[in-house]
This record gives sequence, C-alpha cells and structure tokens, in this order.
Amino acid sequence: MAREHYIGIMSGTSLDGVDVVLCEIDSHSCTLIHSIEYPFPSELKAELLSMIAGTCTLEEVGRADHSLGVLFTEAVASLLVSHNIDASTITAIGSHGQTLWHDPVGEYAFSMQLGDPNIISVKTGIPVVADFRRKDVALGGQGAPFAPAFHEFIFNNIKSSVSVVNIGGMANITVLAKNNNENLIGYDTGCGNVLLDMWITKQKGLSYDIDGVWSKSGKINYTLLDTMMTDEYFSLPYPKSTGREKFNEAWLDDMLKATNKGIPLQDVQRTLVELTALSISNEVLKFNSDIVLLCGGGAKNTFLVERIKALMPNVEVSIAQNADELEAMTFAWLAYKRIHKEKVNLKEVTGAKENTILGAIYA
Ligand SMILES: Nc1ncnc2c1ncn2[C@@H]1O[C@H](COP(=O)(O)OP(=O)(O)O)[C@@H](O)[C@H]1O
Ligand SMILES: [Mg+2]
Repeated sequence: MAREHYIGIMSGTSLDGVDVVLCEIDSHSCTLIHSIEYPFPSELKAELLSMIAGTCTLEEVGRADHSLGVLFTEAVASLLVSHNIDASTITAIGSHGQTLWHDPVGEYAFSMQLGDPNIISVKTGIPVVADFRRKDVALGGQGAPFAPAFHEFIFNNIKSSVSVVNIGGMANITVLAKNNNENLIGYDTGCGNVLLDMWITKQKGLSYDIDGVWSKSGKINYTLLDTMMTDEYFSLPYPKSTGREKFNEAWLDDMLKATNKGIPLQDVQRTLVELTALSISNEVLKFNSDIVLLCGGGAKNTFLVERIKALMPNVEVSIAQNADELEAMTFAWLAYKRIHKEKVNLKEVTGAKENTILGAIYA
C-alpha cells in the first residue's frame, strides 16, 4: 500500500513546547521525516496553569481553545516552511490538543483537550483528526495512555521482553511480550517530571532542572519519600491514568506537611527524582522485562536516568530511538488509523469495552 504523509502535534502536561512531527506511514511502518519543537509562549503557559490550578470562566476556556488552535497552526506552519513542504502532500494532521483536565473515572468521567481543530484545518488547508480520547472514555475506558498501541506497532520487531517508559509530565509504561501473543499492558505509573518542574520553578524560577544538577546536590529524605509512595495511586491496579489534577503543588504541600517542616529545598528536589525513579522501576520489575527503553523529556535528565538504572541493576536500560518524538508520532499514526477507519488496539490498556475507531475528522 502507498505510503502517506501525516503530521502529529503533541503538547503534553509539561507545557514545555509543542512537538510537531512529519511521518511517512503505511500499514507496517511509521518513519520520522522531520520534527520541530515549537516554543510554548510563557504567558499562555501561565494562564493555562492558573486555569488548571484554580477556577476559570467560560470565556477563558473559549479563549484558551482559540489560542491553542492558533499556536498549533503556527507550529505546523513552522515545520512546513522550514522544510519547504507543500501542505497538499500531507494526508492529515493528528492533533492531540492540550489537556486541561483528565478525570476518566466516575459518574462524570471526562478528558478535556483544547486547541480548536477547525482553526488548524482552515488555516493549514489540511484535514485534522482530533478528539481522540473521549470515545474511549465513553466506552468506559481511561482515555489514556494511548502510546502503548503505537509502541506495540513500532517495536514489533524486537525479540525480547521490552518495557517502554515514557517520562513526560506524567510517566507511562508499555509492556511488550517477547512472542507478541499476550495482551498489551500499559498504564500511567504516576508522576514523571511534573513535580520536579513545579518545585524548581517555585524555588528558583527555572522551568526545569537541567540534567538533574540541582537535585543531585540534595539528599533523599526517606520520610518524605515513604509518605509520597503510600499514595493510593501507586498501589491501584491497572488500568489507570493520571494527570495534573492529582500530582500538583497542593499534593506535594500535603506530603510536606505530613512529613515535617524544614526539609532543605534541594533535598525535596532530590527526593522527587527518587519518587519518579522508584515509581517507574517498581512497575518495570513486575514484568521481568529484559530491556527498558526510555523516552520523553525525562530521558534527557541524566541524573534521573542514572537513578532508574541504579534501581534496576539487572535490566538493560537504554534510550529509545526517536525518544523525543515518539508521542507526537503516536498522534500522526492515530490520524492514519482514523483516516483508514481502523480500530486501535487499546481496550486492555484503557479498560474500554471494545477496541474502536478513535478521533473525529475536521476538514
Ligand atoms: N536536559 C534535561 N534535563 C532535565 N530534564 C529535562 C531535560 N530535557 C527535558 N527535560 C524534562 O522533560 C520535560 C518535557 O518532557 P515531555 O516529554 O515534553 O513532556 P510532556 O509530554 O508532558 O510535554 C521538561 O519539562 C523537563 O522536565
Ligand atoms: Mg512536551
């Protein structure tokens, strides 16, 4: 079958940048052709963070939806212009949208992503596939994580037991069995970088702790670590997914209050690294994987990676190919699946009643 070109747009919970990729896709492969990380305007980031943390008006929600639609359009335009690519060569764009709230459990289960796909489609002239998560939620699923279906697709030639761990704002694991005939397992292990970013921003005004240098200067506070690890999320059985609505400043404040006052600031940062490393390694070790492939921005935090390796000395831990682009590639591929009206193999991961065609087309 012919190979087609798709764009994927991803902006995760970290609000650190808009990842845009151009991929060539067919039923057997998804090849990365180009990628850019388009800067996330700091003003918009601050507005979204305050909307998520507090209360907001319908007008603010509508404006955020518009502003994000414009931002994603600019990000796509930037990729097309910088590589001199004609929009007519792109079959479709898969746009994840910016998650504002993810609460897929209970009577009012929902997952909310903003970034008006109509704007992206009208301004680029390219059909857009968006609203991927809500049908899964309507089918009783978590609506997340979706990366495991893509990991299964692209890592299908690896003949070992592999866990793929994506460390974004949250962290998620995909477990791929050697013989490919077992159910796909994947779920959010808990927080990834979100608390690390929040703490260094609050204390030092930096958006993240480059290579974990600051955290490395601190000591683990085991009382705080143990208190955090007793959070029920870490012992919940899968399917499960999480977001900023849970792992946020208020959560850390509660944990600090429950511990004691006066933990040196750098020790808090160090302990948060251990929380991420431990909550990831605890899950990986449950599945006896031979290999762990790390991806997402957290895979660039050399100290965090060092800690993950130290907690799993018998497992081969390495950085996945295209580690930075895999999430945006997932949404390019999901657009391909939608355009070809193919169901996505996610029900074991999300807990949805059935596998289904995900996403709506805006053209
Ligand atoms: N060199 C680095 N050192 C430490 N942390 C890094 C580095 N590069 C990226 N990160 C972390 O990765 C995060 C972005 O990861 P990303 O996968 O884009 O997450 P999301 O999907 O939530 O947007 C940053 O906010 C930061 O915490
Ligand atoms: Mg990001």
